Amino acid sequence: VGFEDPGHPDHRAGLALAGIESVPVPVDDRGVDVEALAASGVGAVMLTPAHQSPTGALLAPDRRQALLAWAAEHDATIVEDDYDAEFRYDREPVGTLQGLAPERVATLGSVSKSLAPGLRLGWVVCPPRLVNAVTDEKRIEDRSSPALDQLALAALIESGRYDRHLRRMRGVYAARRETLMSALAKHAPHLELRGLAAGFHVLVLLPPGMSEEEAVTAARERSVGVYGLRDNTFGEPRWPPALVMGFGNVGEGAIEKGVERLAEVLRA
Ligand SMILES: Cc1ncc(COP(=O)(O)O)c(C=O)c1O
Repeated sequence: VGFEDPGHPDHRAGLALAGIESVPVPVDDRGVDVEALAASGVGAVMLTPAHQSPTGALLAPDRRQALLAWAAEHDATIVEDDYDAEFRYDREPVGTLQGLAPERVATLGSVSKSLAPGLRLGWVVCPPRLVNAVTDEKRIEDRSSPALDQLALAALIESGRYDRHLRRMRGVYAARRETLMSALAKHAPHLELRGLAAGFHVLVLLPPGMSEEEAVTAARERSVGVYGLRDNTFGEPRWPPALVMGFGNVGEGAIEKGVERLAEVLRA
């Protein structure tokens, strides 16, 4: 199975438990490289097309088309991790690949970002030929997710309160992202940023000559938690050293203060 590189390490770790080999497929700022994917000879791919994790790129429209053409030609399966699709701040979210090729694409959704990761609830929208295999697997694995939690979520959705919650939280997270972006522009205007106005993290490229380890350690000494991009890489490193900065569970005051401290670390 092909995986985005850089990409979320848990994707690969999960499939490794099932004995599946991960093949790295490079990602650039237009998403996954579909030519490299086709050349790799894999029969399936797992990816995050709406908001690449962790680079924040959108899969470019021509690549979306090329990806679907590749899948049709090779009878391949695409697993689309739509993990934070509800949170796009500058426009409506792009449609899923699943909607374009329901016979080829399985889309994974989750309430981990929209409600709470502790709920452990999500969904799979998959090609009809896979429905029995997926439900069998789920039954064997854990005999299904808690019924009461599912019923509560269903009630939340049917009452319209889930949508209201999403609308409210989009505003809250957009404000946090805006605070992060303006604090970076004010305290560290020399840094290059990557990623869509979406989700819960921003990618910050490091000044020349600085390693991720150095930056992460110096930030931690100032009580600022950031992650290195390298933790997500498993083939050839193709991206310059960068930090993944999360803003999902940090208040605006703490974001401003954190960036001010981080700017001392990331001087040009
Ligand atoms: C790339 C990616 N996919 C999926 C998820 C959600 O996973 P789960 O629904 O298992 O909590 C996350 C959450 O952090 C994520 O970052």
